[in-house]
Amino acid sequence: MKILVTGSNGLLGQKLIHKLRTDKSVELIASSKGSNRLTIKEGYTYLSLDVTNNIEVEEIIYSEKPDVIINTAAMTNVDVCEDKKEECDDLNVNAVRYLADCATKIDAHLIHISTDFIFDGQNGPYSETDIPNPLSYYGLSKLKSETILLGSSCRWTILRTIIVFGVAENLSKGNIVLWAKRALEKGDSLNIIDDQFRAPTLAEDLADACILSFKKKKYGVYHTSGKDIMSIFEIVERIARYYGYPTDKLNKISTSTLNQIAERPAYTGFILDKSKRDLGYNPHSFEECLEIIDKQLKN
Ligand SMILES: NC(=O)c1ccc[n+]([C@@H]2O[C@H](COP(=O)([O-])OP(=O)(O)OC[C@H]3O[C@@H](n4cnc5c(N)ncnc54)[C@H](OP(=O)(O)O)[C@@H]3O)[C@@H](O)[C@H]2O)c1
Repeated sequence: MKILVTGSNGLLGQKLIHKLRTDKSVELIASSKGSNRLTIKEGYTYLSLDVTNNIEVEEIIYSEKPDVIINTAAMTNVDVCEDKKEECDDLNVNAVRYLADCATKIDAHLIHISTDFIFDGQNGPYSETDIPNPLSYYGLSKLKSETILLGSSCRWTILRTIIVFGVAENLSKGNIVLWAKRALEKGDSLNIIDDQFRAPTLAEDLADACILSFKKKKYGVYHTSGKDIMSIFEIVERIARYYGYPTDKLNKISTSTLNQIAERPAYTGFILDKSKRDLGYNPHSFEECLEIIDKQLKN
């Protein structure tokens, strides 16, 4: 089985490469914009692929003919998406159309990642059949990408997820758990919002969901987040408790004090019944994730 991963320099992309490169049944192609930033170069081929360039996408997919395409490339900074809507559309929407068109022509299975930000946060936790109503341009762009797949005749799977975190190398952005751990370690005083609720997702769990969907040939929309829903404040508090840092310098603040460019949903979280039943998805508890991260950082 030949698998093409886009955005392989990113957090989810790296986890997929590490999990799949030792699988003897898989011929793996890692691809991202620019050069390969992974230290380990064995067990896969790397191709530079800018997914917003339709010519490059067609050239690579028609010559490589992968059985599965896992699209992890995206513009994920919610405020940047609000500011740069055209660039956001290029990467989060148009690129998905190019990939879906190519997947249709070569009969590949396209696995695409979406987000809880397609919902307005009024009625979380959400199931796959709940009605989207994005508050931000990022959420809208991801919803548009879902609409493209719904209208495509390729075999597709959409995995919606929430706050992805984990340890990886040379990332172009941080993630909440590593940020909070470092800040707590330094003894910083932290102002954390306590009126937004999420189910943070270990990148390895999401990578497993991608792998389960192509191994089990499961198509359609699946909710694949972590299983613990908590406020952002509680996320940081649980990180502090787990690693034994004091919590007395953690202050609760409300979202309105931040003046963020993009509006965020208040309460998301996902009902995971469908992905547990169909995919066998079985994410770690938040504390299990922290244990995994601790071991990875020590290595
Ligand atoms: N992170 C979250 O909290 C979160 C939450 C919900 C959903 N998701 C979704 O989950 C998926 C994976 O997210 P992630 O956290 O792994 O994102 P990430 O770490 O930002 O990875 C995305 C990768 O795509 C690469 N990329 C950027 N432009 C590209 C282009 N034109 N062509 C090819 N590659 C390009 C980036 O390259 P550089 O590294 O060089 O910038 C980056 O390595 C995305 O679809 C995202 O929307 C993420």
